[in-house]
Amino acid sequence: SEDGDVASRLLAWYDAHHRDLPWRITPRAAAGGARADPYRIWLSEVMLQQTTVEAVKSYFGAFVEKWPDVEALAAAPTEDVMKAWAGLGYYSRARNLKACADLVASQGGRFPDNETGLRELPGIGAYTAAAIAAIAFDRPAAVVDGNVERVISRLYSIATPLSEAKPEIRALVEGLVPQARPGDFAQAMMDLGATICTPKRPRCMLCPLREDCSAILSGDPERFPVRLPK
Ligand code: ADE
Repeated sequence: SEDGDVASRLLAWYDAHHRDLPWRITPRAAAGGARADPYRIWLSEVMLQQTTVEAVKSYFGAFVEKWPDVEALAAAPTEDVMKAWAGLGYYSRARNLKACADLVASQGGRFPDNETGLRELPGIGAYTAAAIAAIAFDRPAAVVDGNVERVISRLYSIATPLSEAKPEIRALVEGLVPQARPGDFAQAMMDLGATICTPKRPRCMLCPLREDCSAILSGDPERFPVRLPK
């Protein structure tokens, strides 16, 4: 099939099968928009940097209950934030989180709505900036994590070892991101990688991209991504 349809097929699958994750739900019409609340997306993305979705869920819930918006988090004592973070690990994330909340709150309480602006904030690297820009602001950013690298490696049966193929993978993602619903596209890629295009025993029969996937034709999608021997 043609690339232009990959995003459409993925989005149709996402509409039917997306995971109901707490940060995807915006209580009230927060941040004055129909879309996701940037505060919740930012908080979840920082938590998800080095922690699994399952482990993040309860921490995320506790944080937004205590501190429902960036002003509330900025007003909180650092000690309380560190205490609420306890157990999530990588505590520099919590210090950066607080510094970021303080900065955003001091600048009017709105997060920058693009990757460049987001990158300037404490604790927000290239990946997190792209994820927030796409999910919170529907910017056509290429959001490439390990899950997405695996999906793309299989879709195009990339024979180059993953460590060398990253620029190619990024370019392929950039080519797939649709102008409509780029935020849902980013989340759909994550969900596909987490639930269907898994590292072991991918569930190809349930995959919305099975007819687009070059790795399926090879007979052994698990071979991808190719890794260099250590
Ligand atoms: N991993 C990183 N960001 C994520 C998100 N927004 N949803 C699910 N998994 C993720």
